[in-house]
Amino acid sequence: MATKRQSVHGQWSSRWAFVLAATGSAVGLGNIWKFPYIAGENGGGAFVLVYLVCICLIGVPIMMAEIMLGRRGRQNPVMTMETLAKEEGRSTHWRLLGLMGVLAGFFILSYYSVIAGWALSYIFQSASGAFVGSSAETVGKIFGDLVSTPETLLLWHTLFMVMTMLVVARGVRSGLEKAVTWLMPGLFLILVLLVGYAMAEGSFAEGVNFLFSADFSKLNWGSVLIAMGHAFFTLSLGMGAIMIYGSYLPEKVSIAKTSFMVAAADTTVALLAGLAIFPIVFVNDLAPGSGPGLVFQTLPIAFGQMPGGLIVGTLFFVMLVFAAWSSSISLIEPAVTWLVEKKTMTRGKACVVSGIATWLLGIVTVLSFNKWSFEFTFAGHKKTEGLFDMLDILTANIMLPLGGLLIAIFAGWQMAKTSSIDELGMESTDLSYRMWRFLVRYVTPVAVIIIMLKAIGIL
Ligand code: PFF
Repeated sequence: MATKRQSVHGQWSSRWAFVLAATGSAVGLGNIWKFPYIAGENGGGAFVLVYLVCICLIGVPIMMAEIMLGRRGRQNPVMTMETLAKEEGRSTHWRLLGLMGVLAGFFILSYYSVIAGWALSYIFQSASGAFVGSSAETVGKIFGDLVSTPETLLLWHTLFMVMTMLVVARGVRSGLEKAVTWLMPGLFLILVLLVGYAMAEGSFAEGVNFLFSADFSKLNWGSVLIAMGHAFFTLSLGMGAIMIYGSYLPEKVSIAKTSFMVAAADTTVALLAGLAIFPIVFVNDLAPGSGPGLVFQTLPIAFGQMPGGLIVGTLFFVMLVFAAWSSSISLIEPAVTWLVEKKTMTRGKACVVSGIATWLLGIVTVLSFNKWSFEFTFAGHKKTEGLFDMLDILTANIMLPLGGLLIAIFAGWQMAKTSSIDELGMESTDLSYRMWRFLVRYVTPVAVIIIMLKAIGIL
């Protein structure tokens, strides 16, 4: 058994702190902004079903693998992969997997922060009553004005990046852990209120029907790839965020149990978000498949028409910001720890450096909605937001599944059985261990490879 290392950044105070932090990372714009609109674009029920299968068969096993690698390596993803590869007598090139993760987190945060900036600005729009009684046209104009003005987008993007880096700079216990202890309960409370509101005021049955009745004719391999990519994205897998959170996990905490809890909480939030949003969309006769504008363009029209819409709308965007904030800190944590451990920077300096780099890259997304916008087609959908859409596709549909595939190969094929048994705290005869190993060795790699090849038309 390897001697147990300790992370220089400290540890979560308990297993609950880890569950909250990992759930905070998982629950984000992906659940509340992205999931409803991609489910809408890909026909609802059948897509949701594929997504749920991906969560169970690919998501949970990869999450266990990532936490396991993180806790065993107890360093940033790059050095963790290097150290573990050495220990297992494998090529130290595995560190490139960690590096791809650090890079993916930095790419994702660059656009994530711009979208979170929209949500920030919408808190103020909504609270000021801008949507009350507004027509679709007026709401469309508010959204149009926001995305067509680079200076405004940049301002909100800057504010959100500052909020993110302020938390990260304070470290694991007084930064990340403290933030999620406030944000997550707040988020759940608002979500439950919103679902209650949708039940009382929306076409709840129609919403349920849209999310859960499967029409497979709408499904193609492109949508399957999007569903799988989203399973990775929503669980924060394939890029080292969960790995770095695992590196702060106390010994002895059961990795399998905590992974189930996090995946279940994340899925519940995505489905509840759908159940809060679609009934309101349907009762106002709006379209569910309206793309990234769904919660920013379609939903505010509904809020403007409904009783109590000002408060409900404002709460909705507060919830969206909470969700984005607790995720953004995990997107940049791998890069920050890498700068601290590898480049021997202080945490403060590492935050400034990575924050500025991400902020700069975010300008690409800011301009994608206006000056630099261009169109292309992906998986049968017309994409209009040029480089932003490309960054999203590159990260969610290529880098994360590829990262997940390599993590599965490392954990399943490169690591000795004794190492994974030791770190997961299981017996080789346990059914759960055997299932996990079977899934990471065969099911995940085969599924990821087939889906990716099918989606690009090679198979
Ligand atoms: N899981 C987050 C969401 O659903 O919004 C996004 C995310 C966070 C992706 C952290 C990847 C990651 F490492």
